Amino acid sequence: MFITLEGIEGAGKGTLLRGLCAWLDETARPYIVTREPGGSRLGQVLRAELLDVRHSIVPEAELFLYLADRAQHVHEVIRPALAAGNIVISDRYADSTIVYQGYGRGLDVEELVRLNERATQGLWPHLTLLLDAPAAIGLERARKRNARKGMSTTEGRFEAEALAFHERVQHGYVTFAARNHARFAVLDATQPLEKVLQDALAVVQNRLNTSVNR
Ligand code: TYD
Repeated sequence: MFITLEGIEGAGKGTLLRGLCAWLDETARPYIVTREPGGSRLGQVLRAELLDVRHSIVPEAELFLYLADRAQHVHEVIRPALAAGNIVISDRYADSTIVYQGYGRGLDVEELVRLNERATQGLWPHLTLLLDAPAAIGLERARKRNARKGMSTTEGRFEAEALAFHERVQHGYVTFAARNHARFAVLDATQPLEKVLQDALAVVQNRLNTSVNR
């Protein structure tokens, strides 16, 4: 089974990921955790370029770099891990391109769906956990975290965007999730973290029980 985590910066993906992994460790199911951008060797190089606040990148170039990262990631990491019987959890995937480059930057969403199809050779997640929180709350948390870790320059290109950008992204997530409601589980990320994790685990458990050969 292929699970992706999505949400604006600071929505709590990191904490949810740790909780999910602890639960999977207990159930002794084989799994791998990966992320975008940067899930492959090539992706590491692209990630450094994409997230550095000192770099100015036009929306089309940004788009194709994320797609290049994804194509390599799917081929090199995700498909082999799924074929070997693992649950694959990716911190961000195709939906990030649709909402950041589409709803956020203003590129055409339908075209982005097609380009993602091409980059992934049709691999969409079985389940996408969307952490839903108002942009202002997430952004504030993300900026504090980056400042604490000294990452404001090297990883802060999106955190440096105006609040209006993050509000478009947030709205985009909710809109695209509604269009794909069978795949998405929307979690209220303003709740206490334990409750968010509890909600997420209920969904994952349910999907694992109902999915055949995943
Ligand atoms: P990351 O460190 O994964 O985000 P977070 O701080 O939320 O954990 O950084 C990835 C950034 O790249 C994030 O701001 C969203 C952006 N992004 C896109 O714009 N398009 C994409 O396709 C992907 C995968 C990420």
